Amino acid sequence: MELIHDIEDMMTRASALGAEGKRVALVPTMGALHDGHLELVREARAHTDITVVSIFVNPTQFGPTEDYDRYPRRLEEDIELLRSLAADGVIVFAPGVEDMYPGGDLERQPIRFTVRELDRWLCGRYREGHFDGVVTVVAKLLNIVRPDVAVFGLKDAQQFVILKRLARDYFFGTRLIGVPTVREDDGLAMSSRNRYLNHEERLQARVLSKAITDAEAAVKRGEQRVLGIVTAMRDTIGQSELAKLQYAEVVSADDLQPLETIESGMEVLVAVAAYFGETRLIDSAFVTAP
Ligand code: PAJ
Repeated sequence: MELIHDIEDMMTRASALGAEGKRVALVPTMGALHDGHLELVREARAHTDITVVSIFVNPTQFGPTEDYDRYPRRLEEDIELLRSLAADGVIVFAPGVEDMYPGGDLERQPIRFTVRELDRWLCGRYREGHFDGVVTVVAKLLNIVRPDVAVFGLKDAQQFVILKRLARDYFFGTRLIGVPTVREDDGLAMSSRNRYLNHEERLQARVLSKAITDAEAAVKRGEQRVLGIVTAMRDTIGQSELAKLQYAEVVSADDLQPLETIESGMEVLVAVAAYFGETRLIDSAFVTAP
């Protein structure tokens, strides 16, 4: 297992791998790794010779009232976890904040990415500027590592759709792969933020995956009225007295715009976000209507 902090070192290492004819994958993460992240690493390894796992808690994607300061940072444990998964072929890239953002925060950058329309609904509506920060950091990581493939979780569905457009529209030459959401036994989507939940919140957080599974089943059965699906999702989440619903939406999978009716054969994204105490959790699924 190699650990690289320095950006120049990572770029040199990546181009040497390219020159050796090695295929390289990138798995961007913010650390506090769990089985969901490890599944991405497994997927990456199935496609390539070397997998670079970046661990960087990206300040520019957190809003002023969000959990940047208390976001879990546990590089040692993360490295151990990766080592238990793979003895070789994995490089951990953990750059410093000042190196990634030499000019300070995004507001001070003279040149920057801005997401439009694709961040108008779902999480983007409630996390202003969040996806600008995500796109910016992923663009930097893709340029540093120049991977053949980059692997992301479909759990962050809006993020995946936006990053696919980034890679396509700006010709990054990296193929993006999406991995289905890895879940706990009771259905809760794994997340680094689950560790914030107390016992009761953790139990009640099951309503999120229940709402998504039911919505998915409804679309697959041919239900076309979005209002009915959204109402059912809201009701399911309302069964938890601790849940504070942020949104329950059904949008078109390619442009992430809201729908009223699901046409036959259409791919949609059903998605929810809710707070349990201070902790904001999301869940979603891509579904194709019959
Ligand atoms: P982070 O939340 O650490 O997630 C890193 C990657 O793991 C993302 O692609 C995310 O979708 C995936 N992931 C998280 N939980 C998952 C689960 N239960 N099943 C499958 N995949 C899961 O997402 C980010 O970091 C950041 O926004 C990042 C892309 C690294 C940019 O800073």
